[in-house]
Amino acid sequence: MRAMKALAIAVVVPLAACGSSKPPTGATGAPPSKMDQMMDEGMHESSDASSTFGPLEVGADWQTYTRVDDQPFPSPTHGGRMVEVWVNDVGVAAYESEDAEIPVGTIVVKTSHEKDGSMGPIFVMEKKAKGFDAEHDDWWYAIHWAEPSGAWTAKGGGPIYWRTPSHKVDYCWDCHESFDRELGGVPVERRAW
Ligand code: HEC
Repeated sequence: MRAMKALAIAVVVPLAACGSSKPPTGATGAPPSKMDQMMDEGMHESSDASSTFGPLEVGADWQTYTRVDDQPFPSPTHGGRMVEVWVNDVGVAAYESEDAEIPVGTIVVKTSHEKDGSMGPIFVMEKKAKGFDAEHDDWWYAIHWAEPSGAWTAKGGGPIYWRTPSHKVDYCWDCHESFDRELGGVPVERRAW
């Protein structure tokens, strides 16, 4: 117990140093979501090799994928933003089947929009070869946001491209691993199939 308490203190201090600045309110105008809090923390932490900004790589061709929702839907777990979901040819049949094994090379992209209609972060998952990361079902995660909206830049939040193995995407699998095939899926009423 003593050890745990010490650990908790050690973790809290650096976050507190990040300051009184709260992340901007979420895309819906609601208080900052957990996702936005994590993003704010990450934006103010120093970056590592897999969190330096650059153009989106995996998933950059998402506009050529199959869109699997019939209209944008709100995603409370992704900052309350309106989102769309795109799956590449390799994975679309398995994604829609609900229980088929997701083939290696599947790329799923979730695009999002801010309340003001500007482009929100792009969320990417790629199914890698067996053994890539057995603990996380061999999924690779990324979040990319080339032009954070005004409220974020005003707070000093720069453009981001965080991807596995950066610890800045740990909170992705932390939640996703509780889902079947690590996929949250498209709400039934929004499925395009
Ligand atoms: C607190 C839980 C939670 C967190 C954290 C989370 N997600 Fe999700 N994710 C979901 C849920 C639930 C869905 C499906 C419904 C939705 O979009 O709201 C989903 C859907 C997705 C999809 C569409 C494919 C699918 O069906 O799963 C992608 C891609 C995705 N998330 C990527 C990410 C990335 C990248 C991160 C980290 C930056 C992340 N998610 C963080 C819960 C979460």
